[in-house]
Amino acid sequence: MTNILCIGAGYVGGSTMPILASHCPEHRVVLVDINEKRIAAWQSDQLPIYEPGLDEIVRQTRGKNLFFSTEVNRHIAEADIIFVSVNTPTKMFGKGAGKAADLQYWEKTARQILENSTSSKIVVEKSTLPVRTAEAMERILNSNSNGLHFDVLSNPEFLAEGTAVRDMQNPDRVLIGGRETESGQRAVEALVELYAKWVPRDRIITTNLWSSELSKLVANAFLAQRISSINAISALCEKTEADINEVAYAIGRDERIGRYFLRASVGFGGSCYKKDILNLVYLCEHYGLPEVARYWEQVVVMNEYQEARFASNMVASMFNTIAGKRIALFGAAFKANTNDTRESPALEVCRALLEERADVVITDPHALENARNDLGELAKRVTFEPDPYIAANNAHAIAILTEWSQYTQLDYERIYNSMVKPAFIFDGRNLLDHKKLYQMGFNVHPIGKPPLTRLTTNHRA
Ligand code: NAD
Ligand code: UGA
Repeated sequence: MTNILCIGAGYVGGSTMPILASHCPEHRVVLVDINEKRIAAWQSDQLPIYEPGLDEIVRQTRGKNLFFSTEVNRHIAEADIIFVSVNTPTKMFGKGAGKAADLQYWEKTARQILENSTSSKIVVEKSTLPVRTAEAMERILNSNSNGLHFDVLSNPEFLAEGTAVRDMQNPDRVLIGGRETESGQRAVEALVELYAKWVPRDRIITTNLWSSELSKLVANAFLAQRISSINAISALCEKTEADINEVAYAIGRDERIGRYFLRASVGFGGSCYKKDILNLVYLCEHYGLPEVARYWEQVVVMNEYQEARFASNMVASMFNTIAGKRIALFGAAFKANTNDTRESPALEVCRALLEERADVVITDPHALENARNDLGELAKRVTFEPDPYIAANNAHAIAILTEWSQYTQLDYERIYNSMVKPAFIFDGRNLLDHKKLYQMGFNVHPIGKPPLTRLTTNHRA
């Protein structure tokens, strides 16, 4: 039996370790976190994250070979392999503020591992980190004087929220980076063996440490770059009467371009794209590559432009004033099938509308609590309403900001009838049937397509 520990029971630790435990019943997997509330939630029926399919796996493994605990030190002492998936947010102070990764949680964990270890261990970086972080980790860990040896591996996580279970069960690839020493390669082999319990070996890629660390940042940068590219073109479509869906389909049929990640939207959100790109930008600056830094920074600049453009388009379309107007935001999560609202474009749009003194009401099937927390003081000026029909009642406009499938099933005729006229719908996800909405009487503003606007509300005449 191998004792496997994961430090950090957030989105990544919490969705990967139950699956690892389910495929490795002969091993013991413990998830620890300093956040007591989170651990209590993992031990309850109300898990702290919403991720389709995860409840079932946790229920099957919890108490058998999967355990949750706040006793970090005790479990470090017992562990053979330690995954570290603590948060690595953008540093907000000192050198590199606003770009570099804040590694304080990371370094604290390294020191904690060192202080509580009585046997040699494999330590696996699961968090996303700047390239060459493993070197710092190794130096801290191997600074001990009690003869212990630590092998540090990089094993970045590529799962996406909302599909975490599927992504972890059936990954495109697993990436493991290690030192090219004998002990480093033994550690790599040990981790390969764990994954090989359910991942075909030809999907397990092994590289040197630095390639692995860097590949994670680059994968996110490429994905976000595609979204910013299509969003940039959506702005041009709106000026030229080209249709972004048709353009995306036409270019995506070229296999060299591919059809994925070409959905134009109000912008990309989530805890990682912006943070990881800014981290890449900082690394390029640090290594004296300002042109490379500026190139990648533009992906984030374009995303901010898209979010701001969406909000200002709403104001301009609604006669240049939304002060005191009720506006219903459909969706708070940064994408469908998650309750995560970190960096959600919905909240960015909400902030912009509040600036204009709109009366904002947000509805979402799973993310209202996180939205309220993320908005902080501003939450006092917002109404949170789980029922979309009530949210839309008496509203001047609806903005679709998360692509929840339930929003395609609503009775928009009923919604239209309950709204102030002229009624507007801004579809930030191109989710709905725009022609149908227009026929009902809505003024429809999609992304990257000409708006369907009415000069009069007397549409049925
Ligand atoms: P998260 O904030 O949801 O979870 C991190 C957890 O670590 C928190 O619960 C926090 O309390 C805990 N923690 C911090 N310091 C600790 C310590 N010293 N001891 C014990 N617990 C500690 O973050 P996340 O979304 O799971 O992301 C974790 C890492 O994985 C980040 O580096 C992120 O970039 C990366 N990542 C995230 C995703 C994703 O979809 N969220 C995907 C791939 C990679
Ligand atoms: C992303 C990556 O997809 C994962 O591989 C990676 O592990 C993870 O970041 C991470 O490192 O945290 P995630 O942010 O959970 O996963 O979700 P995505 O599906 O990538 O969506 C991110 C944002 O882009 C969402 O706001 C989504 O709505 C938006 N998006 C995505 C678009 O606007 N258009 C698209 O075509 C695709």
